[in-house]
Amino acid sequence: MNTLARKPRYAVIGNPVEHSRSPFIHEQFARQLGIALYYDKITATPDNFAAVVDAFFAEGGKGLNVTVPFKVAAYALAKPRLSERARSAGAVNTLWVDQGCLHGCNTDGIGLLTDLQRLGATPDGKKILLVGAGGAAKGVVFPLLEAQCAHLRIVNRTESRAIDLQTQITARAAEFSTRLSAGRLNQVDGRWDLVINATSSSLSGLPPDLPNGIFAPGSLAYDMMYAAQPTSFMRQALKQGAGQVSDGLGMLVGQAAASFAIWHNVAPDPAPVLTALRRQLLAS
Ligand code: ATR
Repeated sequence: MNTLARKPRYAVIGNPVEHSRSPFIHEQFARQLGIALYYDKITATPDNFAAVVDAFFAEGGKGLNVTVPFKVAAYALAKPRLSERARSAGAVNTLWVDQGCLHGCNTDGIGLLTDLQRLGATPDGKKILLVGAGGAAKGVVFPLLEAQCAHLRIVNRTESRAIDLQTQITARAAEFSTRLSAGRLNQVDGRWDLVINATSSSLSGLPPDLPNGIFAPGSLAYDMMYAAQPTSFMRQALKQGAGQVSDGLGMLVGQAAASFAIWHNVAPDPAPVLTALRRQLLAS
């Protein structure tokens, strides 16, 4: 048996997954805390996802991060044993086995909250505009409402998806109904303290088609995507008067730190890893 095989094994599973920064992040956390581990990337398909997860844990694997497009499938697999965070997100990004049973959690929301704190933009008392109603948006609605934002408005290119998301949330937690609204991308009144892009629009190089004049003085425009250069959403937000812009690299490190804490019972320091990752991204 070689040395790698003897180290506790972790991995990120998705499709595509080649670009994933998770191995680097977890290896850095492990080095920081003197923990031995091997962290891999696994490509799955919708047809073999469940079998690949089964085989990974059957062969002694300790933990899996789940990424696009399998977070909902992972939720279904871990359904009898989901954390509250996973239940409210309806999706799972962290899997592990305890006493022979598969468990699931979702750390995307905590990753976003950690990064907003780093940026001095905690949600409490803020008017938040969440752009997008897909999986990425779904994972953060509950945490933002629980963090006591003054109002959260979900807007989406396809209005019905925004309204469906609003309905799902209020069906689960009626107490949020007075602080939550939904509509089309152009149905945005007033100015917002925090505008979060949870769409995949940056992949096409075009920002979501939001109206002008939506940024409050000192507001933060946050793109959940990340890139070496500012995304199209960040560039547009700066032109339209956002006080500060950020991409989602810190959220990526924050969600990884929360997964690491679940698996290893110790919280790593995300700050130096974010700095190293930013440097790596700029050099690539
Ligand atoms: P993810 O899991 O990454 O959120 P998804 O569930 O496919 O992926 O959702 C993608 C989100 O990005 C949706 O809100 C989508 O809007 P629609 O529901 O109308 O499809 C949004 N999106 C993608 N490209 C966009 C664009 N060019 N402009 C605005 N919204 C866009």
